Amino acid sequence: KKIAHVTAELAPLAKVGGLGDVTQGLGRAMKMQGHDVVIILPFYQSLDANEIFDLKHVMDFDVPKGTKWDGENVVSMMKTSAYSGNIGGCDVILLKPHEETNSNIFKGGAIYGGSYNELEAYLYFSRASLEFLDKSGRDPDVIHVHEWQTCAVPMLYWEEYHGKTSLNKAKIVMTIHNLDNTGECREEEFFATGVNGEKFNVIEKALDERTIGHNPERMCLMKGGVVYSNKVTTVSPTYAKETLDGNGGFMSKILKANQEKFSGILNGIDYDLWNPALDATLPANFAPGNKMTENKKLCKKYLQIGLGLDADETKPLIVCISRLVPQKGIHLIERAVTQSENNGNQFVLLGSGHSDGGFKRMANEEFSQTNSSNVRLMITYSDALSRLMYAAADFVLVPSMFEPCGLTQMIAMRYGALPIVRSTGGLADTVIDCDADQENGNGFVFYGADDQSLDECIQRANKTFQDRKKFHELQERVARVDYGWEASGNVYAELYESL
Ligand code: ADP
Ligand code: GLC
Repeated sequence: KKIAHVTAELAPLAKVGGLGDVTQGLGRAMKMQGHDVVIILPFYQSLDANEIFDLKHVMDFDVPKGTKWDGENVVSMMKTSAYSGNIGGCDVILLKPHEETNSNIFKGGAIYGGSYNELEAYLYFSRASLEFLDKSGRDPDVIHVHEWQTCAVPMLYWEEYHGKTSLNKAKIVMTIHNLDNTGECREEEFFATGVNGEKFNVIEKALDERTIGHNPERMCLMKGGVVYSNKVTTVSPTYAKETLDGNGGFMSKILKANQEKFSGILNGIDYDLWNPALDATLPANFAPGNKMTENKKLCKKYLQIGLGLDADETKPLIVCISRLVPQKGIHLIERAVTQSENNGNQFVLLGSGHSDGGFKRMANEEFSQTNSSNVRLMITYSDALSRLMYAAADFVLVPSMFEPCGLTQMIAMRYGALPIVRSTGGLADTVIDCDADQENGNGFVFYGADDQSLDECIQRANKTFQDRKKFHELQERVARVDYGWEASGNVYAELYESL
């Protein structure tokens, strides 16, 4: 099949969280199955062109874009440049306004929250992706879009492209990675796609009941994606069920109404990119059956010394690698930090995002290097540091309030660390409690969102850690659990086949 993904993120270059890992891992898995896969991505100013393999200019083309001009709605043509290259083993097409246009789209040092208007930029990007697919004559069988940022693609495809351009045979798959952000826009904002007036009303009509539990003045892009796509997936079976059961806010009703085309497919992780046996950022490599215990110890010591922690092998080391947003259970992360001395643990946080105020203060005050030899809080984004932390860790904490899938618990296992998770979404689908199931346990699971539930779970984990022989066996066991892309890639392949 010819598959074209349209996405806002792609690991490792354009990654903020798991979305980037998934488009990369799924894209490569499908390519390895023999499919022809291209990934269309904004050419963010923040991308380092030197890190893009084989970067080449492909073509310039015009993209219709609406603006208000002297009170009048005017559609003008935005000259756009397409580049091809390779990122993370995936063939990519990077789109950006042509230099001459002086546009402020995708400019700035960050992927999201750069110095541009995200809604305008992604609506333009959605239209530009379809224009590219049409004008380049790629003629895909499947267009696979992700998150609200690219949901205008299915709407515009069926209303403006299918049967009217070279794009005739494509079917659309939309994947919801997170319902936290659904993308809301007014008619004048949607005009950034070049579509307004009558056509906008047609789309609005197709999204009838658009006011359910929702802002009546705005169109919900994610709802548009659900209505206009042939298949809709989310990233774990349990999250699919939770959202259908009402945990997705107003989107639950929309998903329920479209239930026959909706399913949950568990994410995987790319076992070549996340491979402790070859990971060049680690001071010592390991694999199950091959220096697992001794080299994980070396990694732990390296991290402890590097961060100025007590280089004490006997203290359980818990790490947390996370975007710091309410979804991730910030109050429980804080609890684990403040309790770690009482529990006899060491705790290292690598956190990025907007809700980092409290942690920054803690990092500079009670848990500064002079005040604590067992806790380190690093408020930054670093792929290399995250890898070292997975390798050094005895436990990886993921105390999420909700979690569509979660990749950190899978990466943890691959690197021989036991996840400690709150049972929700994809965490419930991937982690089995070691005390509840002696034979298959691969981590520790708690249910409540309160301090006590977390404390008890950490105490159970610590107890297991003290039984050294058992703990080392568990490290070997979790590192052999298979959450690579093969199984889930096959499920996607079947889905594509069914279109
Ligand atoms: P989400 O997509 O909700 O952030 P996931 O668990 O699906 O959660 O994926 C998170 C990904 O981002 C993982 O690859 C994790 O290692 C990475 N990550 C999260 N925070 C950081 C950080 N501060 N520095 C480096 N990597 C991070
Ligand atoms: C989202 C979710 C996370 C999921 C990731 C990749 O950001 O928060 O649970 O693993 O997307 O699908």
